[in-house]
Amino acid sequence: MPKSSQSTAGTKSNSSKGTGATGARGSKEAQGSMAIPKKSPSKTPIAGKGVDAIALLKADHKLVGALFAEFSATKSVAKKKKIVEKICLELSVHAQVEEEIFYPAVKAALKDTVLVPEATVEHATLKDLISQIEGVEPDGEMYDAKVMVLCEYVQHHVKEEETEMFPKAKESKLDMKEFGAQLQARKDELLASQ
Ligand SMILES: [Fe+2]
Ligand SMILES: [Fe+2]
Repeated sequence: MPKSSQSTAGTKSNSSKGTGATGARGSKEAQGSMAIPKKSPSKTPIAGKGVDAIALLKADHKLVGALFAEFSATKSVAKKKKIVEKICLELSVHAQVEEEIFYPAVKAALKDTVLVPEATVEHATLKDLISQIEGVEPDGEMYDAKVMVLCEYVQHHVKEEETEMFPKAKESKLDMKEFGAQLQARKDELLASQ
């Protein structure tokens, strides 16, 4: 689990800015449990500093949703494989920055004992599903079934974040611009390492 010292980084009451992302890089769990697939990623639709954290995370959700729709409409095995590689990369990076930066801050700000733990457990299931399709040949109905289950699971998880966690985070004292910059910087770093 990320260390508690990172939890308050980026709050409005904390004058020491920018410590959350760098401190969180040492999180062994986050690094060890996330196998990022090796394929060139697409940039998130929102780039640059100062973007609102929730807008950035929602843009990621939207991008992955569009990729699942693209997968459903595709017959070509080669194309399916490419789309799934992109889905796995986007989801893995997204989950990692949430776990390293966003979730610890939200948990601390809201004194939350339910939403963040539940979302973290859901991430573990997402990672398990990703590991079952990552790098695998699209060889028939079981492959398609796994991608569809991943899609449904992501939809469920995204809905909970967007309807429960994000609205509460928005009302908290967290500086969403500061967190947006941290999330974007960490995403860029992870994507550049691919
Ligand atoms: Fe998310
Ligand atoms: Fe999430």
